[in-house]
Amino acid sequence: MIKVEENVSLKEYNTFGIEARAKYLCRISSEAELIALLKSPIFNEGEHYILGGGSNILFTGDFDGLMIKVDLKGIEIVAEDEREVRIKAYSGENWHQLVLHAVANDWGGIENLSLIPGTVGAAPMQNIGAYGVEIKNLIESVDTIELATGLFRTFTNEECGFGYRESVFKKELRKKYFISSVTLRLTKKNHQLNTSYGAIPETLKEMHVTIPTVKSISEAVIKIRRSKLPDPAVIGNAGSFFKNPTIRLTQYKNLQSEYVAIPGYPVDNQNIKVPAGWLIEQCEWKGKRINNVGVHPKQALVLVNYGGGTGEEILQLSEKIQAAVLEKFDITLTPEVNIL
Ligand code: EPU
Repeated sequence: MIKVEENVSLKEYNTFGIEARAKYLCRISSEAELIALLKSPIFNEGEHYILGGGSNILFTGDFDGLMIKVDLKGIEIVAEDEREVRIKAYSGENWHQLVLHAVANDWGGIENLSLIPGTVGAAPMQNIGAYGVEIKNLIESVDTIELATGLFRTFTNEECGFGYRESVFKKELRKKYFISSVTLRLTKKNHQLNTSYGAIPETLKEMHVTIPTVKSISEAVIKIRRSKLPDPAVIGNAGSFFKNPTIRLTQYKNLQSEYVAIPGYPVDNQNIKVPAGWLIEQCEWKGKRINNVGVHPKQALVLVNYGGGTGEEILQLSEKIQAAVLEKFDITLTPEVNIL
């Protein structure tokens, strides 16, 4: 039986902690419940939005439609041999809890993605990534239900069209499919540990780890994230607000002559990715605060709600930052969060 709530506060459903209301909200805890909802007049009469952990969304006003809160739970082993395990995790599971489950079993592959807020279903949506690993490297398939027909469809990794913080579910097939579970392929031995990215090596050293393991890498990543990213339970935020922009190598070289220290990660031999956090810091926005909203003092890519801030205020702040970066560097920053 599905239950639809009316005029619901969304404050608890978004990590920015923005006060906004939804006309309707329905929690879906099974595939059968979703199929029942798809047949209901409430689904068919207006707009809908599928909500995971609310950790990548900015509400700029009330939502005059149906919020579908994903609540499917469960983690199952679907196949294993002595080298690998394939696990199916349902979309309403908390992502970090899944990582901890893998770490506790010494299954390798997702340890660098520790402490990323949000749900399992949101992970393929935007191809979550951190510390040299993207979820696209581990995904075997994604089980979905087509909203228009209620038909089940399994997407292979290739069919997901993964890119940097992108997938087919965010682009061509946006709002067309409900993700019900994700199947990941993890290692049981000979783990391909990714220990070289950013602050990982020095953190492992501080932890006196000489032979890294799935567990120690997860602990190192948790330590790094806690040291510079604000905890949404304490200060409202949605992680990186912008994507790191990719620019032409020619533009990068011109910038390098003026800003010797500009960081860059080659994408191919014509293009290079530049950290948006660095660009924002150069524009002197890091740590700035306007009333209840601001730019995090330890990571300029993260916009924060100190409490009582509105979505509109965050949006205006983001537009000021975009204008400053465009003016100083002639680079356009694109939001990574979904703005509603
Ligand atoms: N930097 C600055 N100033 C800042 C922030 C960063 O100069 O305020 C510089 C750093 O010194 C470094 C570079 O920018 O040279 C990269 O910084 P960092 O390693 O912190 O990563 P990022 O590029 O800012 C990305 C992801 C994060 C992910 C980290 C670690 C995006 C949009 N963000 O941030 O993901 O945790 O790498 O892998 O790609 C998220 O998506 O919500 C998220 C937090």
